Amino acid sequence: MINTSFIIETTVEFVRKQMGEDSTGHDWYHVDRVRKNALLIAERERQGDLFIIEMAALLHDIPDEKLNSSVHEGQNKLSNFIEGIPLSADQALKIIEVINSISFRGGEKKPLSSIEAKIVQDADRLDALGAIGIARTFAFGGKKGQPIYHPDLTVREKMTIEEYRQGKSSSIHHFYEKLLLLKDLLNTDTAKMMAEERHRYMEEFLLQFYQEWNGQA
Ligand code: ADP
Ligand code: NI
Repeated sequence: MINTSFIIETTVEFVRKQMGEDSTGHDWYHVDRVRKNALLIAERERQGDLFIIEMAALLHDIPDEKLNSSVHEGQNKLSNFIEGIPLSADQALKIIEVINSISFRGGEKKPLSSIEAKIVQDADRLDALGAIGIARTFAFGGKKGQPIYHPDLTVREKMTIEEYRQGKSSSIHHFYEKLLLLKDLLNTDTAKMMAEERHRYMEEFLLQFYQEWNGQA
């Protein structure tokens, strides 16, 4: 019988060490919120293997490009850690599968393979919404050197990839490019419910932002 609480503790220690210095919104506290929300969703949905969910949530950002010099380096970091802890082959495979399926970029439309992946993805997306989501967006934008807002561009204007690369974006634009779309991309009913208030709060924030920007508030 594998001692799961020992494995979780070891994983927490590893992740804390790996993410401690990050200031892009990918810090340990992001991971901890994703873990807690993933477990909450699983409990309310009465679905999913809790150990796989907790492990995948804890490790989900370890291979992220933003924290590694290459995708390859990130993948290695994850598999080296997984190989060093006493998991069954099936558990190791499932955890890696969840992480890879949710962090997969580019051909993002691929349907998720398991309920565990759906739940961890929902929890990760919830953390991009609401007050926390707003804070993370401006932290990320600042680190990237992009402006808070760019009044020259119509907010809803769709940018070409080239313009995006040239940094002609702003953190306010990110709301329209991603954040306001997320509530319709969630997998579980529980996460959809949790997203409602967070979504409303972001819309209110944007209205207030434009009012103040235009000197009306
Ligand atoms: P995660 O890995 O947690 O799903 P990302 O790596 O895509 O999220 O982004 C981390 C945080 O930075 C999120 O809160 C996200 O909304 C924000 N973010 C991502 N891209 C941008 C951007 N271009 N401008 C501002 N914020 C961004
Ligand atoms: Ni994340």
